[in-house]
Amino acid sequence: MTSRRKFLGAAGATLIAPQLSACGGVDKLPVASVPASGFGADATAEQVTEGLDLRGKLAVVTGCTSGIGFETMRVLAKRGVNVVGTSRSKTRAEEACRKVIGSTIAAQLDLADFDSVARCADDIHTLRSPIDILINNAGYRGGGNERQLINGVEKHFVINHLGHFILTNRLMDRLYMSTQGRIVNVASRAAYRGAPDEGIWFDDLAMSSEYSDSLAYGQSKLANVLFSLKLAELLRGTRITTNSLHPGVINTDIDRNLNPITRFGFGVLTALNGKTIEEGAATSCYVATSSKLGNISGRYFEDCDAITIENKGHMQDMAMADKLLQKSIELTADWLVEFKAPRKQDFE
Ligand SMILES: NC(=O)c1ccc[n+]([C@@H]2O[C@H](COP(=O)([O-])OP(=O)(O)OC[C@H]3O[C@@H](n4cnc5c(N)ncnc54)[C@H](OP(=O)(O)O)[C@@H]3O)[C@@H](O)[C@H]2O)c1
Repeated sequence: MTSRRKFLGAAGATLIAPQLSACGGVDKLPVASVPASGFGADATAEQVTEGLDLRGKLAVVTGCTSGIGFETMRVLAKRGVNVVGTSRSKTRAEEACRKVIGSTIAAQLDLADFDSVARCADDIHTLRSPIDILINNAGYRGGGNERQLINGVEKHFVINHLGHFILTNRLMDRLYMSTQGRIVNVASRAAYRGAPDEGIWFDDLAMSSEYSDSLAYGQSKLANVLFSLKLAELLRGTRITTNSLHPGVINTDIDRNLNPITRFGFGVLTALNGKTIEEGAATSCYVATSSKLGNISGRYFEDCDAITIENKGHMQDMAMADKLLQKSIELTADWLVEFKAPRKQDFE
């Protein structure tokens, strides 16, 4: 079985249809083939979706209980989207949903537990609806530089990448049923600033040879970008697109595991040079909904615009993306599903 079929089962799917220009030796170049958004770093999620009527659409937003995920869910719901918001705790997801005006559904999802990921996808299937938008937003960042393993694999890689890898696979049939399905992977500029210089350490995913939280977080975020790049290739010729992004630097609970001094420093940094949460959700909402991006796939966005990163990192490394797909399949094979063409009665 080819990796394409194993992951997507998308054989059937093919039948249908700068924040800074240079920074620390990194050149950020606009992508000429992607229309400019017209928005900047200070645009909010409400501004980038102004005037959109998204009634009738269904979105899944992972990690809806705080920070960027909550604001993303809030604004999409405000524009008429029916949003499934997830949390490790169903109660917390319900609380977040109650705070939002619009139509929302709470779901339980722990990305560190692959059985939970499978159950969450099964729960979403019971809605019997196409999925128009999947925002893989939830994220974990460790503190204290204590390496933790889940089934022998370093924890950031499991939660930030492998959990979302399985979820995406298991929801693919519903994305396929949308008139234009969009997968948005919330990565980070840590993908080129914090990941190992060599890229993903496929031969040591436990990170036993060297470990720091930033290295592990960066590696997992590089995996988000490369997964998106590879998935776009696999989905070429379908109506599903996938893109990744850096939301900005925002004072959210992502720093919850840092020690108080580092946390304070992060607070100062974001106050001086960061975005508000309303601004932090803008790129996710823009990439998920803009009519300018209907056929744009495999791109990486910052401040609502597609850019390429030159001189640093592995963001466009297709060989590494290929290897990531193979390795991810190997590590999650027991939880992946093969594509089954949805039946008409699934939606009645
Ligand atoms: N804030 C920044 O400066 C920044 C910069 C670059 C990238 N990002 C990325 O933006 C995304 C959102 O982060 P944020 O800043 O909004 O952080 P946040 O406030 O900490 O939100 C993270 C969300 O992820 C969920 N989550 C955490 N661990 C999980 C797990 N094991 N399984 C399922 N859900 C889990 C949390 O929900 P529960 O605790 O309720 O489960 C929470 O809703 C992340 O992917 C992060 O890496 C953030």
